[in-house]
Amino acid sequence: QSLFEQIGGEAAVNTAVDIFYRKVLADHRINRFFDNVDMEQQAAKQKAFLTMAFGGPNSYTGADMRNAHARLVKMGLDDSHFDAVMEHLGGTLKELNVPDNLIEQVAAIAESTRNDVLGR
Ligand code: HEM
Repeated sequence: QSLFEQIGGEAAVNTAVDIFYRKVLADHRINRFFDNVDMEQQAAKQKAFLTMAFGGPNSYTGADMRNAHARLVKMGLDDSHFDAVMEHLGGTLKELNVPDNLIEQVAAIAESTRNDVLGR
């Protein structure tokens, strides 16, 4: 069974989107990056984010991650912001009672995108 399936597949992603998004938008360290983002598309993007982090089917490439965040890097996106998102990802999964060993695997996947997201 894939990591995506072990966590609960698409149903788990849908539940996680709400929790994760609430945490991110409430966090003053990072919510400015979401200011001018099309809100209608946000749910889909959060879903894509979490599906990717769960090792699921929508596998984004590094180039996509680089492009998707290039505008944010110009706004000052750095390691501290990336760390904050990682924190919310872990916190969301904890709230959903995902086992620690699976949370570690999710964190490793998200972590592997750091340099692309930060454009370096
Ligand atoms: C967009 C993944 C880190 C803020 C996206 C998209 C994905 C994604 C899949 C949608 C791209 C598209 O289809 O258009 C990730 C992953 C990350 C990460 C895997 C690593 C943990 C971050 C961080 C921030 C951030 C650290 C800011 C604190 C955004 C914003 C958008 C976005 C604002 C929308 C950009 C726009 O519409 O112009 N991300 N992201 N992401 N991400 Fe991330």
